[in-house]
Amino acid sequence: MVENIETIQNAIHQFEITDQKSLEAFRIEFLGSKGSVKELYNFLKTVPNEQKKAVGQQINDLRVIAEEKLNLAKETLENSSSTQKEKIDTSRPGDSFSVGTRHPLSIVRNEIIEIFNRIGYTVSEGPEIEDDWHNFSALNFPPEHPARDMQDTFFVEKDDDMELALRTHTSSVQVRVMESQQPPIRTISPGRVYRNEAISARAHCFFHQIEGLYIDKNVSFADLKQTLLYFAKELFGEKTEIRLRPSYFPFTEPSAEVDVSCTICNAKGCNVCKYTGWLEILGCGMVDPNVLEASGIDSTKYSGFAFGMGIERITQLKYRVNDLRLYSENDMRFLTQFTSA
Ligand code: PHE
Repeated sequence: MVENIETIQNAIHQFEITDQKSLEAFRIEFLGSKGSVKELYNFLKTVPNEQKKAVGQQINDLRVIAEEKLNLAKETLENSSSTQKEKIDTSRPGDSFSVGTRHPLSIVRNEIIEIFNRIGYTVSEGPEIEDDWHNFSALNFPPEHPARDMQDTFFVEKDDDMELALRTHTSSVQVRVMESQQPPIRTISPGRVYRNEAISARAHCFFHQIEGLYIDKNVSFADLKQTLLYFAKELFGEKTEIRLRPSYFPFTEPSAEVDVSCTICNAKGCNVCKYTGWLEILGCGMVDPNVLEASGIDSTKYSGFAFGMGIERITQLKYRVNDLRLYSENDMRFLTQFTSA
């Protein structure tokens, strides 16, 4: 009997538990209902009474040894499997996920802002719902001007003392800037504008503009031309040329429309420039003294220029987008084609 106990004890010591399978095998072999420790208890019945106590104690000790080994092995196995789970392979390539792309109009707007930032222009913003004063009156629009017609402008509210409309251009922001600060003023105002137009490939009821304003002592038309030439070369390339054609805006005098040499055919003539070699990109002029006075700036002391362009138009020329509706349709096939520099 005692010999038997010793053999089993050796077997317990020598049993190697390396995984869940051998752990279970160990439990069955020594501690299971038909296991060897259990069998020893059966033998105990045959042991003479005077030895029962001592032998019983030995079997108990053996059971404790087996149980301790089992518990210890169980713990070690659990720990090692959980550390395996936590192990992170830092050399594995990461999971790629889509971060989206910028809207082409945002890309071009940011580019234009950056170009003017480099020559000291700040960015000003204003409300999209605008009153008559900032959108029209302060900008020298005569009362009968067609832009004040419901056909051209979306009015939000129209009663005797209040006239609110969706702004038709961001020149309204320039009035706000002039009202709130004295020259020198050098700012651009990007933003969304609205006009009552039927939606087609070439017209939309809303679009985006960037308008610029520079007011100081002795600002001349030559300064305007040079600023626009710098801008055109930065945006379309060093070889770009500009030309100015006389035009009319209520808020500038003299006024001009500006063309850039066609960047698509290098001014040789193509269907985009309608075989003229020139593309119209913006309107500009010297700020009318009436506008300066209306906003509280002394027109005998200061002069300035203003210009305004449509971001859709510039984007169309840069990326050859030939339908204005694409910008607001949220078609991923269109939107994912643009990457910012
Ligand atoms: N506000 C004019 C427009 O919306 C553009 C412009 C701005 C023209 C400044 C001249 C000077 O068409």
